[in-house]
Amino acid sequence: QFDGISSVWLFGYGSLIYKVDFPFLEKRPATIEGWARRFWQGSHDHRGTPEAPGRVVTLIQQPGVRCKGMAYRVSPDVFEHLDVREKNGYLRFTTPMTFDDGSVEDGLVYIATEDNAAFLGPAPAADIAQQIARSSGPSGPNRDYLLNLAEALRSLGDEDSHVLEIESHLR
Ligand code: BEZ
Repeated sequence: QFDGISSVWLFGYGSLIYKVDFPFLEKRPATIEGWARRFWQGSHDHRGTPEAPGRVVTLIQQPGVRCKGMAYRVSPDVFEHLDVREKNGYLRFTTPMTFDDGSVEDGLVYIATEDNAAFLGPAPAADIAQQIARSSGPSGPNRDYLLNLAEALRSLGDEDSHVLEIESHLR
């Protein structure tokens, strides 16, 4: 799939920002354009159960909006074995990423769209916070996912009003 390529950039906007369990060659904060982070994806296997799914973030297309995340340069063989939840029907695409120094590279991004069986879609922030507060799965409490993500975004200097609003409801 990546024959002849020495490394690929992977752009993380969710748990990949704070939880890295794969080797990487380089790690750099980056921004992509035209995408917004939303707690619209259901999680019945990581932060919830089939009976009581939690919520995790995905990206939705929104012209003019920027999404800050963390980019990892990984070797293709690492990449091919990476569990980026392809098995859950995540869609992969390539998009330009801008680093803090203004340089640009293409990055691979995984998102869940409304075609994904676990996709939940929009809900009021208070309802999303309540669902997160009561959900837990094999990867741990959904609450930890939200708080870790909010903290990681603050460290990146990102002001994600959607995530911050849900966080304040939860707290
Ligand atoms: C991410 O953080 O970019 C991510 C994590 C899990 C699945 C898809 C994307």
